[in-house]
Amino acid sequence: MALDNDRIGVCVIGAGRAGMIHARNFARGVQGARLVAIADSHAPSLLEARRQLEVQTGYQRYQDALADSRVGAVVIVTPTSLHREIVVAAARAGKHVLCEKPMAMDVAECDEMIDACRAAGVTLQIGFMRRYDESFCAARERVACGEIGDVVLVKSLTHGPSVPQEWMYDIRKSNGPLAEVNSHDIDSARWFTGSEITEVYAIGGNFRCPQAREKYPDFYDNVSMVCRFEDGKQGFIDGAVSVGYGYDSRMEIMGTSGVMFVGRREQDFVVACSTSAGIVQPFVKSWRTLFLHAYEAEDRDFVSCIREQRPARVGGRDGRMAVAVVNAGNRSILQRSPVRVDPDPSRARPVPGA
Ligand SMILES: NC(=O)c1ccc[n+]([C@@H]2O[C@H](COP(=O)([O-])OP(=O)(O)OC[C@H]3O[C@@H](n4cnc5c(N)ncnc54)[C@H](O)[C@@H]3O)[C@@H](O)[C@H]2O)c1
Repeated sequence: MALDNDRIGVCVIGAGRAGMIHARNFARGVQGARLVAIADSHAPSLLEARRQLEVQTGYQRYQDALADSRVGAVVIVTPTSLHREIVVAAARAGKHVLCEKPMAMDVAECDEMIDACRAAGVTLQIGFMRRYDESFCAARERVACGEIGDVVLVKSLTHGPSVPQEWMYDIRKSNGPLAEVNSHDIDSARWFTGSEITEVYAIGGNFRCPQAREKYPDFYDNVSMVCRFEDGKQGFIDGAVSVGYGYDSRMEIMGTSGVMFVGRREQDFVVACSTSAGIVQPFVKSWRTLFLHAYEAEDRDFVSCIREQRPARVGGRDGRMAVAVVNAGNRSILQRSPVRVDPDPSRARPVPGA
């Protein structure tokens, strides 16, 4: 393992929106680790990242970062379609891996990544940072202690403010908003129920992105998905992009003897009242602020897992199961019918008789 004064050398690959959050964490200091390099194929982004992070070493080719002997671990935050290639290369180079969600494009890719990390004996962690968020963790603990009885239904939503980038409109290439925003909801639903999703029925529609309608008729900016779990529990996930007003991620867990609500919308909990505007409660603008501490805890735990040689709290199997559900959801939208979630993507199929 690459250690400097007993610290693990980290390189963040992909210095975009999410990459810079991880990179700032490691630059500011994660105990037991040190940011030694940053990699981004886009020269101006790399330059700006190096300037902001005050890190000497920058690589335009991720392969050069993997050849750097000071790098013991990488955080992979490139567009999703590149995750498989870079994770497999990193594992083969003996680097521990924290890979952002969605893990990959399909289950076959996930399997390659899991196998490569297992063969190399390196940690593979997936970036479901809600599992490190204080409110989500506290709620999960209380549900597990039986405070609301047995879980019956999990509702989870994520609504994001941004207008999608062009690559996201082709859902066959991007896996669409189900992958980009709802991967988190799928993972949280599995986490809270302790059960796997076996069947989904999803509908999608494009309500806010008229610019994409003609060229990408399958693109949806709003999705609603009903889920059946293997033990009979029920789930409902909804996702939206391009909402404009802010970032919203909430869960409602209904049990046999109660209900629990998780997540917040308000910025800093300040409510202002005035005669002109009435009651005004600012919306959280971005996941970047809402989950800042969760990202820090996630990065800390990644380093601890490596140092203590224990399995990641959120591993390859979690990433893989979420990808299987995303793929089934997109099939359901395109086929307009319920789809069984089959961990083998070539066999995911409509429910007979539907
Ligand atoms: N956990 C979360 O909540 C969360 C939030 C946002 C994004 N993400 C995930 O993080 C990943 C990146 O998303 P983003 O919004 O930061 O994207 P982004 O477009 O802002 O950043 C991606 C960066 O990767 C760089 N890049 C592209 N190809 C590369 C290559 N071959 N080598 C090195 N760098 C390369 C780009 O130049 C860009 O700077 C996606 O998988 C996304 O789903 C996760």
